[in-house]
Amino acid sequence: MKRLLSGVCAALLALSCHAGEVEVLHFWTTGAEAGALANLKASMRSKGHTWRDFAVADGGGGLALTLLSSRVNSGNPPTAAQIKGASIQEWGRAGKLANIDTVAQAERWDALLPPIISNTMKFDGHYVAAPLNVHRVNWLWVNAAALKKANARMPTSWDEFFAVADAMRKAGIAPLAYSGQSWLDLGTFETVIIGIAGVDFYKRAFMQLDPAALNSAQMEQILQTFKRIKAYTGPQGKYRDWVAATAALAKGEAGMQLMGDWAKSEIYAAGKLPGVDILCTAAPGTSGAFTFDIDSLALFKVAPSSQPAQQDLARAVMGKDFQRAFNLAKGSIPVRQDVKLDGFDECARQSSRDFAASAKRGTLLPSVAHGMGLPYTTTLALWDVIRQYWNQDSMSAKIAMARMAQVAAARR
Ligand code: GAL
Repeated sequence: MKRLLSGVCAALLALSCHAGEVEVLHFWTTGAEAGALANLKASMRSKGHTWRDFAVADGGGGLALTLLSSRVNSGNPPTAAQIKGASIQEWGRAGKLANIDTVAQAERWDALLPPIISNTMKFDGHYVAAPLNVHRVNWLWVNAAALKKANARMPTSWDEFFAVADAMRKAGIAPLAYSGQSWLDLGTFETVIIGIAGVDFYKRAFMQLDPAALNSAQMEQILQTFKRIKAYTGPQGKYRDWVAATAALAKGEAGMQLMGDWAKSEIYAAGKLPGVDILCTAAPGTSGAFTFDIDSLALFKVAPSSQPAQQDLARAVMGKDFQRAFNLAKGSIPVRQDVKLDGFDECARQSSRDFAASAKRGTLLPSVAHGMGLPYTTTLALWDVIRQYWNQDSMSAKIAMARMAQVAAARR
């Protein structure tokens, strides 16, 4: 009987006799993001597994993390969750993540991944998460037609940025598409830190939370420059969220946007080509640096009967064809070094070149805004300080500095 069954399984080719269900928590709910994820769902279904979607509509993933905590702490974790570097370590320390070394060794992940990525996927030297992509956060997107109409050139410093913004305004174009979401406020702010004060200062202020850097003349200048951007964003709340802001950029209603390269998925959806219709360049003053945001699925400890499907999920995430299809749709670059970039747009190629150059130079920086650098609670506290500073015109840079210092002290 056993022999007969395994014969049947072999005959079913791709369909596994360990078919199971995977429940995946994620926050990819915009049309284009959901489209990118559809590739993974299809790959799992082709292996006979069932995909249970645990989708939480909230860009940046704050709400997803809260829901994840309640599920894990009540003893009912999902099979996998889209969480970031620092959270992976926290769940690893809590003893909640599954060891997937067997899959990683069989598929040679150590050889395929750059160390910065493989290290982020490991807890205590063991693989506990599978990487999907590398997003770059420190980008500036510029509508080519708007730039031409303003008779301006791509800005490379903050002074040039403000000059281009003025020229666009004179030409009747809203300079900056900006949506007020706290994770975006912090994403913009971390980019301004690097552009004004450089990589070493970012490391001290935002990675080490050094009180001397947080409370310095340089930080005051950074906060003031950040606030200066606000005058170019039009009425607050004009764009519901980043998707609406990117749509305005794509249509030419606004000239520029500071945003990670997930924006490309919406640029494509609007029928525009990144690198041609919508130009990309490193955010002002940051061309020597690369703030990374690695999306990954962390695998939670599940019952033995669910493990084969979970392992297939990890295998599928790192599959060569999946990495290509997913990243083409998502706007990011593949994590596998053996995926060729032919067919990818010019911005993806630049991202890949800059990633390699920054890795050599020591200027690959975890994006704090996207949960890559600091513990989750610290990240949320920083989101909040910077959101308040951005929104409240009466809040001075000195008060924001004092609040950041409080966040730092609470972490020690
Ligand atoms: C980031 C995430 C990206 C993208 C973005 C907007 O945190 O890494 O993949 O989804 O949020 O939702």
